Amino acid sequence: MPIDSSLINRSNLYKKFSSKIFHNPYLDRTLVSFQGNKQAPFSSWFKYREGFSEKLVTYLLQELKPQPGILLDPFSGSGSSLFAASALGWQSIGIELLPVGIFATKSRLASQKINVNSLNTVIWDLKTINFLDYYNQTDTFNHIAITQGAFSSINEEKLIGYLFYCNNYILDDDIRSLLLYAAFCILEDISYTRKDGQYLRWDTRSGRSKGKNEFNKGEILNFDNAIHQKLKQIASDLDVSSIQLDLFKNSLSLQDPVEKPEPKLFQGSCLEILPTIEESSIDFVITSPPYANRYDYTRTYALELAFLGCSEEKVKHLRQTMLSCTVENRDKRNYLENYYTIIGGYQDFLKIDLTFQNQAALQEVLLILENYGSEGKLNNKNITRMLRNYFYEMCFVIYELARILKAGGIVAMVNDNVRYAGEEIPVDLILSDIAESFGLVTRHIWILGQGKGNSSQQMGNHGRSELRKCVYIWEKPAL
Ligand SMILES: C[S@@+](CC[C@H](N)C(=O)[O-])C[C@H]1O[C@@H](n2cnc3c(N)ncnc32)[C@H](O)[C@@H]1O
Repeated sequence: MPIDSSLINRSNLYKKFSSKIFHNPYLDRTLVSFQGNKQAPFSSWFKYREGFSEKLVTYLLQELKPQPGILLDPFSGSGSSLFAASALGWQSIGIELLPVGIFATKSRLASQKINVNSLNTVIWDLKTINFLDYYNQTDTFNHIAITQGAFSSINEEKLIGYLFYCNNYILDDDIRSLLLYAAFCILEDISYTRKDGQYLRWDTRSGRSKGKNEFNKGEILNFDNAIHQKLKQIASDLDVSSIQLDLFKNSLSLQDPVEKPEPKLFQGSCLEILPTIEESSIDFVITSPPYANRYDYTRTYALELAFLGCSEEKVKHLRQTMLSCTVENRDKRNYLENYYTIIGGYQDFLKIDLTFQNQAALQEVLLILENYGSEGKLNNKNITRMLRNYFYEMCFVIYELARILKAGGIVAMVNDNVRYAGEEIPVDLILSDIAESFGLVTRHIWILGQGKGNSSQQMGNHGRSELRKCVYIWEKPAL
């Protein structure tokens, strides 16, 4: 069957990588998503739905590089890769922009330093406290427009009272941080909202939703129940881990315990931080960038951002600074050109820019989508701009990863393919091809779950074919 000329570059790319694409039976959707952390201590305290499981990280390290070294996650989120790698003796380094992931990572670090007996005493005392006694009308929850009315007034007053009590009566810094984190972890449960990808969904009981469809999110926990349950969960996980640690220390085992270097976290955009990392200094990168799926972290996590004191302006600024994955993102070309010029990397900038322009399969699909846009076939006219920005910025990320990896180093990236107006964007193939332009070699494109790998004929405008969800493994050739 002749190949549709509008698919030619994507078909060629598919042929180039087809021998690398296969189903890895070990990887399923649970393992590669937050679901895999559901029962896990620490990582299950806060539902960071965009996270992958720590078991995935353990699997990848044990399978691909059992000898510990230095691991980097440039989109570290709640820190799954950092903590899982550290448990295996790796020095791990994360980069994260959103205060939500930063707070989750720091709180987990603080929890590891806590005296569990003191925490249990504080939690016990908290049970006797009526948080309304500490509510003062001059203290308010720092709402932004999209969080106004998210809590019933009783839940909001109790939350404010609890925060006041923790901030003023809990003297131990680590215990105080953990108590504040417990409140952060229950915000969705005590609110009228449900996280829903592109936005916050509002329960009809809030009186706020204007949509045609009524929405009932189920039980809305009252603040006291929610906070005590969360504190119980945290204390019990910490109890178990401290007992395990004591047993380990007292065991007569002659084996050296694995040293667990404390993860390090850089706060800011990886587009700026990666270029500052020394060349050939990293052994392993495990990461999952935002997907090109219009998911808006700054809206979905608005309650948590407001809790952390982010103003309206700050939230808008974060939205624009994040890797482009929403239709609102403006392009960062000028900003990146300036930045690379300032740090003395203008030649690098030109090389990366050219690699983007020369990615034939990407340009092919962008052109098609552009035409769809002018014909009114896209449900948002900025989808093409979003995809262009997404891949443009990912070119910078991948270039820097290739530069800072040691020879023999590995990148494992989790990402999903996407489809707009029925047109498949083979994110896995395009990013792997970009990685190869920067000297990396694609070892595997592992498909998850049911995915069987699309045939070249399935590419393009075939709305019902299954989209690949993948883990790509790229390697920097040994010298
Ligand atoms: C798919 S999530 C990664 C989740 C992580 N693997 C985990 O298990 O928690 C992508 C992360 O990238 C972060 N991010 C987006 N743009 C960024 C940027 N420019 N620099 C650093 N982090 C960014 C988001 O805030 C989000 O936490």
